[in-house]
Amino acid sequence: MARFITIASAKGGVGKTTFVSNLATALAQQGKRVIAIDSNLTTSNLGLHLGIPLYPHTLQDVLKGRISPGKALYTHSAGFRVLPADISMRQIMVPRASRLLNVLSRLDQADFVLIDAAAGLGREALAAVEAGDELITVTTPELPALTDALKVIKFADRFSTINLGVVINRVAKERHEYSQEEVEEFLGVPVISSIPEDPAVRRAIANKTPVVLYHPHAKASRRYHHIATQLTGVPATLPSGFSRLVSWLRY
Ligand SMILES: Nc1ncnc2c1ncn2[C@@H]1O[C@H](COP(=O)(O)OP(=O)(O)O)[C@@H](O)[C@H]1O
Ligand SMILES: [Mg+2]
Repeated sequence: MARFITIASAKGGVGKTTFVSNLATALAQQGKRVIAIDSNLTTSNLGLHLGIPLYPHTLQDVLKGRISPGKALYTHSAGFRVLPADISMRQIMVPRASRLLNVLSRLDQADFVLIDAAAGLGREALAAVEAGDELITVTTPELPALTDALKVIKFADRFSTINLGVVINRVAKERHEYSQEEVEEFLGVPVISSIPEDPAVRRAIANKTPVVLYHPHAKASRRYHHIATQLTGVPATLPSGFSRLVSWLRY
């Protein structure tokens, strides 16, 4: 049975899509069958993070009933499949949770289905929260992001969503940042992991590659692997020897 996990935050730009692309990669490297879905139909960009060229089939086509979900799946070289969204203006639409659930129920077999939610608390974002069985909230260690994260968590409380906890992203260990304990107290859910502010992440995105692939030994990459291990119980094996040298040279 697939685990349907929604990645949400309410606040934009905190690292949801980066998280989805890297967690999908890390889980695939552990031999798991993963499907990543871009449910962000107004400002979709999972495909851009993953270097997926303009793909002929998208989630919009599936939602409109033009094709089956299986037909729209793009197989990424990292070993997982992606249901991308159309990035053009003419394809902007807001899916209902029921329509999204219908798509999820017709997906091919997978161990993990990661749903990249839209920002905000509009119908589009909330549909993704409602459609997933489990929720991971991404935040930065700052009050505006935390306040928005709290709203998502409270919204998910209305359903039987299993709240896996929160990932604190872009932690720079500056004095003004909220600590892990403060975040847990504020949000009332456990912190799954803290991901550091890491320039390797930005370089990887510029190269349209998940940092887990682009620079496997970067601090952020290790955290993504660690989170994957928390979800599967399988310890990560990082590349060694020559490939490790190459990854260092990329810096
Ligand atoms: N751990 C990190 N370290 C450095 N920069 C990061 C990190 N995570 C995300 N970013 C930056 O934040 C930007 C926004 O991330 P993104 O995943 O697109 O956010 P969201 O999907 O929540 O809107 C990325 O383009 C990248 O530049
Ligand atoms: Mg995003």
